Amino acid sequence: MQQKPDNCTVVIFGAHSDLAARKLFPSLYELALWGHLPDEYRIVGVGRAALTHEEFRLKVHEKMVGLFPETMHDKAAFALFSARLFYVTLDFADTGGYHILHKELTEGGGELGRDRNLLFYLATPPALAPVIVRNLQFAGLGEKEVFGVGWRKIIVEKPYGSDLQTARELNTVIGEVFHEERIFRIDHYLGKETVQNIMVFRFSNGIFEPLWNRQHIANVAITIAEEFGIRDRGAFYEEAGLLRDILQNHALQLLASVAMEPPVDFSAESVRDEKAKLLRSIRQFTPESVSQSIVLGQYEGYRSEKNVAHGSTVETFAAVKFFIDNWRWKDVPFFVKAGKNLADTVTEIVITFKCPPQNYFGPAESCSYTANQVILRIQPEETIAIKFGAKRPGEAVITDPVYMKFDYKTSFAEAGITPYHRLVLDAMAGEQMNFIRQDSVEYSWAIVDAIRNAVGDHPPETYPVHSWGPESVQGIYG
Ligand code: BG6
Repeated sequence: MQQKPDNCTVVIFGAHSDLAARKLFPSLYELALWGHLPDEYRIVGVGRAALTHEEFRLKVHEKMVGLFPETMHDKAAFALFSARLFYVTLDFADTGGYHILHKELTEGGGELGRDRNLLFYLATPPALAPVIVRNLQFAGLGEKEVFGVGWRKIIVEKPYGSDLQTARELNTVIGEVFHEERIFRIDHYLGKETVQNIMVFRFSNGIFEPLWNRQHIANVAITIAEEFGIRDRGAFYEEAGLLRDILQNHALQLLASVAMEPPVDFSAESVRDEKAKLLRSIRQFTPESVSQSIVLGQYEGYRSEKNVAHGSTVETFAAVKFFIDNWRWKDVPFFVKAGKNLADTVTEIVITFKCPPQNYFGPAESCSYTANQVILRIQPEETIAIKFGAKRPGEAVITDPVYMKFDYKTSFAEAGITPYHRLVLDAMAGEQMNFIRQDSVEYSWAIVDAIRNAVGDHPPETYPVHSWGPESVQGIYG
């Protein structure tokens, strides 16, 4: 086990959010159970509802029992965790109220003592982030307020802004209160074992990297498909849409991991330098290139979802053909496809290699039947498969595709930890490699803004629920 982080208090803004219930409290509880949290930790939930500490503890317990009954058997362990939970009622826009938070953080906690180290977690809608951060500063809780008495860090959830301009504005506000080394822009994909393994796969093996370029690779296809719709997040989705919800962050981060250059070393800055450079090299779209490169879709029935406008033109699907204008990837298409209510729930990256110069064995048509592929399955299976051709048994010499497969489940005894376990610990420890740096945020928004501008008012195409999106997607793969 790694060294435990410093004693600290995690302050969760949006303590009643879905994210807090589904991810943050369960992860923190498990980290506590496994002994990964510091000896003296506290968790302070902050929300509008007027609750006492005790009522808040009961609420957290109730939600966790409802969502994860299997992890809640050990009553004594939960009681220990629960005693570390506190609550502050706050209207996020009420500057005066932050003094109560300040008081709770500096005087509360009884025997757990004063809170010198504070990790703020903004599990709130993006528009609230500037208000909260400014108010933290007014209340003397900002990082730049403390000198030598402990640290203050902030984790900000995606989407980080809603376009390039708002992302920059948000960054200016946060940057006035926290130094860049204390800002953790979270994209939970970067906490996934299989995503972190992309770099390990590429850069710790001699056999793949020499082939990882335009000379040998025909195309790369990245898919983030979900079999379910927007669930009860209509209001959020109407603001975000798939481009902001998935493409700007998860999809482009996968693309950056699979296409970046080897970093100078394995430090957070070197790795993030390469990712930013890669994102900067993505070819921008123009109104002329849109029709051959982008298909946006909306699933049938989306407009009848709760909190969705009847005439909504928000996209729930996107297929985009990217090109990366650098020496390694010039003219290799990167097909990125993501959507809600598709035929399956799967995230994968398929690297398809060019065919050998001659096809001796048949089948006679193209080589695509047996084309070599590396298939990085991010989820739900955690596998890497290599596809190659083998002789079909029998008299004739015919090639069939076969697979060699590595599976995390069967190859390692250790259970992986979830992204939120890992990323919360990383932020406590100040490790920034798996958080997005501002330059990458901006390059990604520039790409999404350009797509949005290029598409203009053109409405998304409708696609049937549980299909693979609009049929016209085939057109951009040609
Ligand atoms: C979130 C998006 O960031 O990622 C959701 O807001 C999406 O819309 C989710 O469903 C997917 O995460 P995962 O880890 O289940 O692939």
